[in-house]
Amino acid sequence: MLRMALPTGRVLKEAQRLLAAAGLSPAEDLSATRRLTVPSRCGRVEYLLVKPVDAPLYVEQGVADCGISGKDTLMELSPDLLEPLDLGFARCRLVVAGKPELERKGDNLLSPVRIASKYPRVATNYFRKKGVPATVFKLSGSVEIGAVLGLSHYIVDIVETGATLRENGLVVIEEIAACSARLVVNRAAYYARLEEIRELMQHLANATGATP
Ligand code: PRP
Repeated sequence: MLRMALPTGRVLKEAQRLLAAAGLSPAEDLSATRRLTVPSRCGRVEYLLVKPVDAPLYVEQGVADCGISGKDTLMELSPDLLEPLDLGFARCRLVVAGKPELERKGDNLLSPVRIASKYPRVATNYFRKKGVPATVFKLSGSVEIGAVLGLSHYIVDIVETGATLRENGLVVIEEIAACSARLVVNRAAYYARLEEIRELMQHLANATGATP
């Protein structure tokens, strides 16, 4: 049986839809069960239900052979694993956002700009590449408040519909990357279980219309 780490939370429903379309439906509704490991109906895959931020670790360490993870999480964690397939769902953008009156041209290069983010590494690297000194505060959620109430000048966060930014009076200032859900595979498992993983990739690719 292949083990696949699946992120709980907002992408789980779409992941489950994709697995069903690929003929790999879980034996139980993953959004309803309290079990953390659930086999597929066909018996070829066992799903591990884990926090989105932990999914790459399970795959990197070989506890799971493969998994689904958002590109935003992968950019933040830089895990050592293969990323063979863009699954095409959970599309969003990683952006720099802030109050509309702030313009990046106005950054004071002599005193660090303050950034609040769930993605401190992405934020640090982005501003470093631009040559702008930055102090990055790591938050765990509700990041927008950071920029609204002055903890930070900007936030680095994902935007999907744009509603959260809009409803908090913030705007996108720059786009860092376009993100979506990716199939990730453990390096050793890819070679040791090549046939099974290729087959899985083919089923998923057929279901998404992507090329493996
Ligand atoms: C994410 C993200 C934004 C929001 C963007 O937060 O951090 O706040 O979704 O989505 P939108 O553009 O469709 O409004 P999430 O819902 O994961 O909650 P969190 O703030 O607790 O992290």
